[in-house]
Amino acid sequence: MSLYDDVANILIPEDVLQARVRSLAEEINRLYTDEDFPLLVCILKGAFVFLADLTRHLAFRHEVDFMVISSYGSRTVSSGVVRILLDLERSIEGRHVLIVEDIIDTGRTMDYITRNLQTRHPASLRICTLLSKPSRREVDVPLDFVGFEIPDEFVVGYGLDFAEAYRNLPFIGVLKPEAIQCQ
Ligand code: IMP
Ligand code: MG
Repeated sequence: MSLYDDVANILIPEDVLQARVRSLAEEINRLYTDEDFPLLVCILKGAFVFLADLTRHLAFRHEVDFMVISSYGSRTVSSGVVRILLDLERSIEGRHVLIVEDIIDTGRTMDYITRNLQTRHPASLRICTLLSKPSRREVDVPLDFVGFEIPDEFVVGYGLDFAEAYRNLPFIGVLKPEAIQCQ
């Protein structure tokens, strides 16, 4: 049995993903300058693959830092009860901040993160997410850059996991029901 046998279908193939990450980077390149020296805040673990590809297409000087957020809930649904497990290294006061996230589902995690970061008085705070599930939204969060809007399906790959596995798949895919049940 291979990891790939657990995938029911590929929602976003690798070449489509890569092309969109490149065009997102072009949009972001139009927004920031070297002088802005923005801080990209990667939300771990899910956004690490997206950040790694995105950062190499950005043409302006920027810094990266990481936050680890835990959300309590079942394995496929977030509860909105959120805790910071790893925080940013330095103050973001007066800095231009771009949050890099894997997916916005109910919006609860991102709502918590943006409220928290706003209290630190950044010069600007924007959100870039690879994926968004608009039909699942419970809290409205203004998204500045969205890679793809997807239907209400649990997806894995390109950093996104189920029970910590499948992050290494180079595409966004949907698991077979039996792969979700047996774990
Ligand atoms: P939210 O708080 O409901 O918006 O959930 C956001 C978090 O739940 C994301 O950062 C992911 O870690 C996780 N999540 C939501 N949907 C999916 C999915 O389809 N696959 C994998 N993780 C997901
Ligand atoms: Mg996440």
